[in-house]
Amino acid sequence: MTPAQEIARRRTFAIISHPDAGKTTLTEKFLLYGNAIHLAGTVTARKSQRATTSDWMELEKQRGISISSTVLQFDYQGYAVNLLDTPGHKDFSEDTYRVLTAVDAALMVIDAAKGIEPQTRKLFEVCKRRGVPVFTFMNKCDRPTLNPIDLLDELERVLGLTPCAVTWPLGNGPGFRGVYDRRTKEVHLFERTPHGAYRAPVNVTGLTDPVVRDRLDDYTFDQVSEQIEILDGASAPFNLADVQAGKQTPVFFGSAVNNFGIQILLEGFLKNSIPPTTRSSVSITVPGAPAPTLAREIPVTYEKFSAFVFKIQANMDPKHRDRIAFVRICSGKFTRDMSVVHQRTGRTVRLSSSHRLFGQERETVDVAWPGDVIGLVGHDAFGIGDTLTEDRTIAYDEIPRFPSEVFTYISNPNSGDSKKYRAGIEQLLQEGVVQSFQPRNAPPGATLLAAVGVLQFEVVQFRLKSEYNAESRLEATPWTLLRWLEPHPALKDTSTLIVASGVSFGVDKFDQPIVLFPNDWTLRYFMDKNPELKLHELPIEQ
Ligand code: G4P
Repeated sequence: MTPAQEIARRRTFAIISHPDAGKTTLTEKFLLYGNAIHLAGTVTARKSQRATTSDWMELEKQRGISISSTVLQFDYQGYAVNLLDTPGHKDFSEDTYRVLTAVDAALMVIDAAKGIEPQTRKLFEVCKRRGVPVFTFMNKCDRPTLNPIDLLDELERVLGLTPCAVTWPLGNGPGFRGVYDRRTKEVHLFERTPHGAYRAPVNVTGLTDPVVRDRLDDYTFDQVSEQIEILDGASAPFNLADVQAGKQTPVFFGSAVNNFGIQILLEGFLKNSIPPTTRSSVSITVPGAPAPTLAREIPVTYEKFSAFVFKIQANMDPKHRDRIAFVRICSGKFTRDMSVVHQRTGRTVRLSSSHRLFGQERETVDVAWPGDVIGLVGHDAFGIGDTLTEDRTIAYDEIPRFPSEVFTYISNPNSGDSKKYRAGIEQLLQEGVVQSFQPRNAPPGATLLAAVGVLQFEVVQFRLKSEYNAESRLEATPWTLLRWLEPHPALKDTSTLIVASGVSFGVDKFDQPIVLFPNDWTLRYFMDKNPELKLHELPIEQ
């Protein structure tokens, strides 16, 4: 296969959904079609088994949620699929956003009884900002659902997406009989199978076929015929360019747990989703070069290797206590043992320990192509957002930064394990699980942690305990807002500034000045009284 063919067959995507909409179940069924697992168990069974999905952390198992993200890879009908897992808890973290920088498309799973839920909306917004194409799966049609026409309307009204129903449900709840494929005008009949454990048998026939007609009561038949007529007459026709531009969303109906409608979804998605495309390189100064490089697009077919790190994870498996940098390949061919430049440090590194991961199992990767995600082990210098490349003039800046919204002090109550505690905190900060700051007058031994959601603090505590055997204690702080300050002479002696009570000054890990506010009012007061000081929501570029 030529490099262009390898790239064209890659599909790198994430499933986005609100907790409980069925993401895990759907992932499992996809793996079944990819022959990655031969018998898809029920979610309950899976949760107690190891390694069938990406839910690997003890905390995830305990809470039944997916916190950290990883990638599952499988082949299906000639496509090489990279399915990236996104955390599904409502209190989600920056990790989710970072994962979405590494995908080319997203599959949005909606519980058809509930419609669009808050988490789905938040994740969708991230995709929209990046122009990522979104496909929609209306799940749980075997249960009573909302009116499917209303579900489509909601996509348009709430998300601003033009829906295009590819399949249409025939009844719902106990009366769910199958789906109608609007492209082929065929009906796929639904047969309940025990726990959806095997590939669901599918009978294909037309809507007016007596076999179908017999299975639908008059009400459902009339209703469905009318709905399909409305869709054919009034809804937007399928437009591949609009789908790939993230404006139109193809909509599929089915039931993940019953493994129904999944194959049509998977095939429709793979066919119409997009292969890896160009990524933007930013302008940088290469040592020894006369001028900074130009910001430009790097074609996916460019022969030199380039990639960026979107996730760092340590101690994924107690059997392998090490640190993995997950990279998304953007151009060129990856070959094991190749040498690349680590753009941030300018050092040349050899990529010898490269892995493909499947839950907790690892497999060495010798060759990989744009679109693929691989795990690199043993490079402690790699940080989130770093570029690895054979071409020194390429630098990606793909990872968005978000203002922290929650703050806590963390300290170690047990001096006996302080060494382990410090090692753990350092590692977790490097992974970007949370950020740290140093306010003036911090209690001795305490570090200020900042995050987008409080779940991240729980993850820190849990991982300190389980991976480093170190106790930790959290202590509430009065702040809810943090701003970076542009350097200014007035900051030399902050006692001369007029600030409301509870406001505190400090520095970030690069010693850049920051200020912490208890609330919006104290922030506005600060800006009013000290107009010469410029505040920034995100770190000022160095
Ligand atoms: P998530 O990863 O999005 O959080 O959802 P997950 O797949 O874990 O599914 C959440 C619940 O919804 C599970 O039930 C799952 O079985 C159920 N579910 C998924 N797809 C369908 C579907 O098509 N129809 C119906 N009726 N249910 C579905 P649970 O009670 O939490 O787990 P379990 O005891 O069923 O394993």
